[in-house]
Amino acid sequence: MYKIPSLPTNKTKPQAIAILTSGGDSPGMNPAIRGVVRAALHKGIKVYGINKGYSGLIIGDMVEMDSASVTNIVQRGGTLLKSDRCLAFKDPTVRHQAALVLKEKNIDALVVIGGDGSLTGAHLLTQENNIKVIGLPGTIDNDIYGTDDTIGFDTAVNTALDAIDKIRDTALSHESLFLVEVMGRNSGFIATHVGIACGAEMVVVPEYEIKPETICFQLANNRLLGKGASGIIVVAEGQTPGLTTHLANVLAQHKLEAKVCILGHIQRGGSPSGHDRVLASCLGSTAVNYLCAGYNDVMIGVRDNAITETPLKDIIEKNKKLDDTFFELALLLHK
Ligand code: F6P
Repeated sequence: MYKIPSLPTNKTKPQAIAILTSGGDSPGMNPAIRGVVRAALHKGIKVYGINKGYSGLIIGDMVEMDSASVTNIVQRGGTLLKSDRCLAFKDPTVRHQAALVLKEKNIDALVVIGGDGSLTGAHLLTQENNIKVIGLPGTIDNDIYGTDDTIGFDTAVNTALDAIDKIRDTALSHESLFLVEVMGRNSGFIATHVGIACGAEMVVVPEYEIKPETICFQLANNRLLGKGASGIIVVAEGQTPGLTTHLANVLAQHKLEAKVCILGHIQRGGSPSGHDRVLASCLGSTAVNYLCAGYNDVMIGVRDNAITETPLKDIIEKNKKLDDTFFELALLLHK
């Protein structure tokens, strides 16, 4: 249960808002859209749904939404509004064009659901043009400063766990070692959570250096302790594709054979977990309250179970760090 702030509605309540999903999709974007739409309609605010993120915004590809537009989507993965990584939005003239599109339709504010790149776009849009923006953290990576949790993270962790539990069965049958690559780009949040929850023999993340010798020692020690020769090593994908295969090659040089299994985009799909549905619904509807209270240029996230705002500037400038003690716990539990 989240503590939801009670905010005043000021005189400059928006008349019309628009909403888009941007960047890599994440399970829970749909309940977030639904939360925004239903809360806005409740306050008598018009809502436009923009198709395909910033790419759709630039060309004015949007439709007015009503309550029925978001019916039956709370349980669906992906995003009803579709998403895109719009490189053109890095250009200030393109952002100006987007602002003109919104102004022409008398839209006072834009809600952006996405990761740090998408929230950077929102921040620049409001700084350079007189359009209010509110961001919601929508990414499976959970790597956004200012929020303990992001929409889609919980589902992605559970999807990876479901797959790894199955891989564990075959690993045990054949006494084999698997390197299972999970998503997360250059952050190890998914890998560390998944590693703890699946009882991995080791977790490899970009934030900490783990030597191949340490992995070999850990697995040899497991055999000595009577834990058998099979194992699961959860590897965060890192910034450059191919790192897990490279690790397998390095381990082979140390006479440790490992099969590589890349979970990939399966982690981005699927029905959102109950946790993500509740988180997304709370963030979506509270975002409207923040807009009505006159907030601009902030992301609505969750800290210590309370829904709270963080300036988008901070989100862009600061990094969310994987907690040392948490990662050490993941390592300790493998021993
Ligand atoms: O940011 C979400 C994410 O799924 C990352 O974990 C991953 O590195 C990236 O997106 C993959 O993006 P794309 O689908 O564009 O290849």
